Order: sequence, then C-alpha cells, then structure tokens
Amino acid sequence: MGTYKYDVVVVGGGGAGLMTAIEVAENKSIKVAIVSKVYPTRSHTGAAQGGLNAALGHVRSEDSPEMHAYDTVKGADFLADQEAVFFMCKQAPEIIYRLDRWGVPFSRLEDGRIAQRPFGGASFPRTVYSADKTGHVILHTLFEQALSRDNIDFFNEHFLLDIVAEEDGAKGVVTLDIRSGEINLLLARAVVLATGGFARIYWSRSTNAVGNTGDGQAVAFRVGVPLKDMEFIQFHPTGLAKTGILLSEACRGEGGYLLNSRGERFMSRYAPDKMELAPRDMVSRAIETEIREGRGVGEGINAYILLDLTHLGEEKINKKLPQVRQLAIDFEGVDPVEKPVPIRPTAHYCMGGIHVVDYRTSETPLKGLFAVGECACVSVHGANRLGGNSLIELLVFGKACADYLKDNLSYYKDYSNGEVYIKKAEEFISSLINREGNERVANLRREMGEITWNNMGIFRDESSLKEAYEKLTELYERWNYIRVADKSRIFNTNLIEALELRNMLELARVVALSALNRKESRGGHSREDYPKRDDKNFLKHTLATKGENGYIRLDYIPVDVSRYSPEERKY
Ligand code: FUM
Repeated sequence: MGTYKYDVVVVGGGGAGLMTAIEVAENKSIKVAIVSKVYPTRSHTGAAQGGLNAALGHVRSEDSPEMHAYDTVKGADFLADQEAVFFMCKQAPEIIYRLDRWGVPFSRLEDGRIAQRPFGGASFPRTVYSADKTGHVILHTLFEQALSRDNIDFFNEHFLLDIVAEEDGAKGVVTLDIRSGEINLLLARAVVLATGGFARIYWSRSTNAVGNTGDGQAVAFRVGVPLKDMEFIQFHPTGLAKTGILLSEACRGEGGYLLNSRGERFMSRYAPDKMELAPRDMVSRAIETEIREGRGVGEGINAYILLDLTHLGEEKINKKLPQVRQLAIDFEGVDPVEKPVPIRPTAHYCMGGIHVVDYRTSETPLKGLFAVGECACVSVHGANRLGGNSLIELLVFGKACADYLKDNLSYYKDYSNGEVYIKKAEEFISSLINREGNERVANLRREMGEITWNNMGIFRDESSLKEAYEKLTELYERWNYIRVADKSRIFNTNLIEALELRNMLELARVVALSALNRKESRGGHSREDYPKRDDKNFLKHTLATKGENGYIRLDYIPVDVSRYSPEERKY
C-alpha cells in the first residue's frame, strides 16, 4: 500500500497519455505520473494501422486544414463541434512534423517528403502513415520520449479503481497494483484520463484489445461526470470475418475493392462517387445490407463479403500493407496476394465518451479532471469519425491539455488526505474476492456481447434497444453475484476481468439508453424506425449522468455549428 504525490497524474499509457505527459513534463518543475493498466507499449494505440490525418498538401497541394475540417464535420453527420474541429485540423500538420523530428519512421514520397494516402470521406490524400503499422511506431516513439524525461514516473500494470473527487475537484486516483494486489493512492493537482475506448462491450466482434473496457469512462461516470454521445459507436467495415480483427482502411485507400457474392463492386449503389472510400458508417451499412439481402457469402452470423486486393500485386501489398497480409494469412487462412479476403464490419471506435467542456483544455465538469483521446468526447467526431482522425485527435488534444496545465497548475490546489479512499477501495476489493457468488465473468461477458451485437449494433430500433437496456440492466445486477475464483492478490487476472466487466456493463447500459432516446438516424446511429436525420429535434449532444440505484439521467446540450450549416451527406 503506498501513497504518492505528483503534480499531474495521467491515467493511460497509450498515445494520448504519453503525449500529454511528455508535453507537461517540458516544464521540469512538474512531477508527472503515468498510470497504465498494461505495459505502455502494449497499449491499443499500437493497433492503429492505416495512419493519421493532416493537411500537409504533399500529394495534392490544394488540400488545407479548412478542407480537413469540412470533411470531418460532414463525415460526423454535423454533430461535431466545429470550432474544436477547426482547432484540431489547424494543429495537425505541426504535430506530424513534431513526430517526424522525434523519429517516427513515416513512409515517404520519392522526393523524401512525408507520404499521404487516401482515406474514407476525405477530399484529398491526407493520411500520413508508416506502411500499415502507424500506431505501433508512434506508440514506441512516444514511449522513448517519455522515458527520456526525468520528471515522468511510470506506474505500469496498475488498474484504475477510483478518482479522488472532492467538492473542489479531482485530487488524485486510487489504483490496484496488478502485480502485488496492493491498493495505491496517487494524489495530484490534476488528473488526466487517457484510458482509451470501450468497444469491447461488443465482446463477440471488435477490433479492440480485450483491455479496452472503458475503465476511465466508467470511473468518471461513477463520480458524477457526464458521458456524452454514447450512442455513437463506429463499426469498421473490414474486420476479418472469423475474428473481427482489423484490416486497415488503407486496404481500400491503396485501391482495394469490396465485392459481393455476385462479384459486384456494390458500393456503386450506395456511394457512387466515393465508392469504397465513403465514410465508415455508410460502408458498414452497405455491407450489412448486401448480407441481409442475400448477396453476401454464406449465411447468418458467419456470412461475409470480400475484400479484393489481388489486383494491387505482391510488391505493393508487401510494401504498403505487410501487416494486413500477415493478419489475413494467420487469422483467416487467406493470402490477399492470391485471393480476396472474407470480411465483415466489426465494432471499432466510440465517438462518445467523457464530457469535455472546453476543447482548449480538455477539462471535464469536475474541476481538475481532464480527458483526452478516445475516452473523451470533445466532440470532434460527432456521429461518425473519419478514419485517420483518431490518432491526430489524441495527439492534438493531449498537447493542448498539457500546454494548459503547464501554465495553470497553480490554479489547482493539492490535497493530502486521501486515506479514506484507500480504505474504501480495500474494502471493495476484499469483499469482491471473498464474495460467495455463483455468476461467472465469462458467462456474463458472453451474454453482454450477444446483446450488444444483436440489439444495438449497426442497425437498431425501439424494441431492440429497449430489450438491450433491460437485459443489460439484468446483467448489471447479476454482476453483484460474481464469483472471483482466484482468491489471491498477486496478478489476479480473474479479479481484473471482473472489474473490467463491471465497467463495460456500466457503459453498455448508457449506450442502450442514449440510443433508445435518440429517435433519428445520424452517422453511426442507424434507427430503422427513424431512418432520417432529424436536425429539428436531435441536432444536440446527449449527456448521460449517473443517478441513484442504477438510474441514468439524460440531458441534451447544443452542437456548435458556427461554421457550416448542416446539409445532406452525399458521397
Ligand atoms: O483502418 C484503419 O487503419 C484504422 C484507422 C482509424 O481507425 O483511424
């Protein structure tokens, strides 16, 4: 058991957390701690394949941050906050050059400048990349940078249990040291949550690491911080058919086709201009429609359509898509050089997250609590994120948050009395381990995965969502009878999985309820009973706040549409 004091505690050792910590630590007098559930180089940022967007204009000089912003707002189905989007797109080029200077090995053009590839919903080739391992190389470069700062300490393999939330704001976090089983208290003037997404609530089919369980969002929600726009989940069009593992959008950016069982490039019916490079929500719906209408291959849950890369040739595939090739061989048994690969949409990204009230700081409604990266909702992705905007978002807003903290830390008072939080956490963990329940984590998690996929997936309606909310609420209650079979404290993965499941169930209920109340279709939220976007009634963000006894309150706040008026999306 230990109590530590820092100026800033960053929870999350992926791209968002590392970037924030590195930039804050530029001020050598600030002591920073990074708390990470996994060893940082295993964070999910490493799974990002295709790249990150910045209007460098290296391939098409007409590109500009303004075009990037417009594409982002349109892709978001006009639910993104437009000043925040502009900020991100303006900052993006500088961030790329910063990464370049730090040593990220970006792919290059013949003349040595940083290369850019086409991605969905973008007017120009704008996505900066490193073959198809972009997240991996960025994560490792950021980790090296963080290691070289003397004023950053790492708390690796620590699970976030609680936020020290006092009346005048957040004062630190409580963690479970997974290696020793001990409870730790890390007090700080400011806490930054950078814990990633929660698309693992779609347990049966997701691109996400199994650790993407929304721990930061769930803990913030439990201390009263609202979650915004949780109904908007992104399904990536090209997950491997058998496993849901990501095959990058770069496959289509480099010229891959989507084919149905008749060999048709069916996207011509859904997005005649952009074809396979329409935004992800549209491509995923198109694929599912082909399957529903009998033009997929196979039937039921095992049905799929085909991603054809064969015409790209082995040399290009090896150069631009080496990981894609290996993943298809290892997990689907198909070599894309020789044959089209079976694919189907898969849960990939959460547009919603912890409500950020000011994009310039990333502060939440709880003073001293900040959120960056996928766990946050700024909102720059609105109802549908464009591919390549995730990595750039976490870097831009991680830096912006750090810049704010560097100059304003004295505004946040420190705090010395957190013992009560340790006691509470210790009692909770002991009671969980010693509970004589009869529910198993694996069973509840499987049931959750079936409900989320079947009832609140790509297509939803009133009755499927109602049923989802009711069944998830039952699971949420059954969790109280969970049995942790391993009674030890050292590296107790059974205990961690039980805690993660609690977080996922907390969030899945919020998704279901928020989706049930949004009676329109917009971006990734596609209601078959309300198939049209309804700007009159629903051009607004959802805010979900936790009440007593499982009650969730929903409120709505306006969207910033100060630059572009909403229009119909056509591609
Ligand atoms: O398809 C991909 O490479 C994923 C990129 C993203 O989600 O931004």
